[in-house]
Amino acid sequence: MKVKCLRLDDMGRGIALVDGKTTFISNLLQDEEALIEIVLSKKNYNEGKIIKLLCESPDRVKPNCPYLNCGCQLKHLDYAKELSYKEEKLQNILEKFAKVNVKVNKIVYDDNMHYRNKITLKVNNQVGYFSNNSNNFIPIKACDLVSPKVNKIIEILNKEDLKDVKEITIKDFDQMMIIIKGNMNLQNLSKYTDTIYMDDKLVQGEAYVTTKLKDLTFKISKDAFFQVNKSLTEKLYDIVVKELDGHKDQTVLDLYCGTGTISLILSKYFKKVIGAEINKEAVTCANINKEMNHIDNVTFICADASKVINDLKADKVVVDPPRSGLTKKGINDILKLKPETIVYISCNPITLARDLNLLKKEYDVVSVTPINMFPRTYHLETITKLKKCIDKNFITTT
Ligand SMILES: C[S@@+](CC[C@H](N)C(=O)[O-])C[C@H]1O[C@@H](n2cnc3c(N)ncnc32)[C@H](O)[C@@H]1O
Repeated sequence: MKVKCLRLDDMGRGIALVDGKTTFISNLLQDEEALIEIVLSKKNYNEGKIIKLLCESPDRVKPNCPYLNCGCQLKHLDYAKELSYKEEKLQNILEKFAKVNVKVNKIVYDDNMHYRNKITLKVNNQVGYFSNNSNNFIPIKACDLVSPKVNKIIEILNKEDLKDVKEITIKDFDQMMIIIKGNMNLQNLSKYTDTIYMDDKLVQGEAYVTTKLKDLTFKISKDAFFQVNKSLTEKLYDIVVKELDGHKDQTVLDLYCGTGTISLILSKYFKKVIGAEINKEAVTCANINKEMNHIDNVTFICADASKVINDLKADKVVVDPPRSGLTKKGINDILKLKPETIVYISCNPITLARDLNLLKKEYDVVSVTPINMFPRTYHLETITKLKKCIDKNFITTT
């Protein structure tokens, strides 16, 4: 059937109406017309697939990557339009779900499209990705989001016998790390990488790779989290420093601190920094990073962040939770702690909005800045500054 796309949804899919029913169509842009086939029909919505594009948007670009639905949902959209789409999407989600009255700042971005320092490849004799939201395997010869060095590794891998391999992660920092789930012959691969893990065993090189962020050096291990886009991470951390506006007589709490990057960058602006992180390996890295950078006013705690806030004292708090956001207990404990400033870093605007809706009882949202940490995908990072509202505090305590 023929449809016209009304707008993009929050996952970058085109929305059209088919007999009045909302229909989501991947790779269709606003105002484009297409012949589509319905591939899934549910009570309240359909999912459709383009059979033929009948009328192209002037915002359509030809992507460098030939694979459909491999995870870059916006690669066919002009980059400037991608940026405005993300600003508008964030504004709409905050208005709808957080009900806060704040104008989202201009999105922070750069033009590096080969930004990913980590990819996880699925394996089915060849390497590839799973198609968006499914287990359909898409074999790939290269990925447009990574460096030429990583694409060389993909080329090498595709010539190998991969029948006993399930998944391969590549981490591309000052050194290269390859993490293989399964078994394969490493003879050809070996010279293209520093570190290799095979089935959880270190079989080549050092256990850690390193990178520099700002003026600090960080070790990154096999399973610890590290942001995927280095240049925009530095911009993100600059905003964290500015929004927290540290003082040498203050303590700051860095919840969900990963390998300690934010804590260590904040150390020179605060008297004391406390980082909390659940992943043991990440905390080990954080402590190594603290020693390596000769920093002595930071303490890392290995614990569930939402369970430790109660026992701590701090003037300011930064949180950077996973996509699921904060817990209700975590939010209540932050409210009891009464920090003067909260900086909330989020990679999921929906859970951010949900959490702001609770935090706004006692905090004003003073600025929201989107960061295009994941170009060509619908994902974005957001940094939100909240300030304790004196009036609201007065009202709740009297
Ligand atoms: C988005 S990452 C942020 C890491 C760090 N702030 C950075 O910029 O690299 C979220 C981190 O939260 C950790 N995490 C997940 N659930 C947690 C929990 N309940 N308590 C503490 N940390 C948790 C993850 O292991 C991960 O390192």
